[in-house]
Amino acid sequence: MSNPRPIGVFDSGIGGLTVVKALRERLPNETIVYLGDTARVPYGPKSPETVQRYALELAHMLMQKNSKALVVACNTVSSVALPLLTRKFSVPVIGVIQAGARAALQATRNQHVGVIGTRATIRSGAYEKALRATDNNVRVSSRACPLLVPLIEEGLLDDDVTDRVIVRYLEPLLADGIDTLVLGCTHYPLLSVAIARVLGREITLVDSAENCATAVQETLDRHSLRSPAIERGELHVALTDAADNFLNVARDALQLNFGEIELRALP
Ligand code: DGL
Repeated sequence: MSNPRPIGVFDSGIGGLTVVKALRERLPNETIVYLGDTARVPYGPKSPETVQRYALELAHMLMQKNSKALVVACNTVSSVALPLLTRKFSVPVIGVIQAGARAALQATRNQHVGVIGTRATIRSGAYEKALRATDNNVRVSSRACPLLVPLIEEGLLDDDVTDRVIVRYLEPLLADGIDTLVLGCTHYPLLSVAIARVLGREITLVDSAENCATAVQETLDRHSLRSPAIERGELHVALTDAADNFLNVARDALQLNFGEIELRALP
């Protein structure tokens, strides 16, 4: 059994394209409709109630595109709205937290995991809960890194200023003794080279985008929702406001091909 309907992927903005990149590589037969809420980004400083309301609106818009599954390509939304989305929609809903937590537990040797993300993600404690649900003994050191998203969006991916900010944020986690670091924001894979440079080889980086793509593949298989193998998947990108400079940063860094960007009005 197979199913050629698209996978709906959404994020607060353009950061979720890192998940799209991983999905395109892993599932080339799948068509993806991506919706980025560029009109209201960033979600990181917003309250859980506001993020939940926005998430429902975006998910409804993607369901109007006949999505067979919803991928929440945003840690902030995944950390506060996943149970709500799962309750409201009948298609499988896949977030980034469970997959990232699972990969971190597989990677850590000293059972001490670091997590970085937006303020909302870190405040929610979602990674700690997911990690401890599987391994009660794991130690978790978390840190909100609110300056990283603006630096990434400015395209400062390989820059002294960014390196200094990374050092400032990560020093306490290194001092705590982590051996694994979860990149708990879908923007952060764009900084993985800079972060790895600061951390050195001893620390394993867990990329939530890659692990989310693995979880999507498993979910589609479990529900017999894969597109036919002869299908060539397409990528359609829609945004809720005109794209800014960051779209070009992401396009160049990720080498993703998408044609016309559709502008979608919010309900
Ligand atoms: N890409 C979002 C995430 O993964 C962060 C950006 C935002 O603050 O909206 O949490």
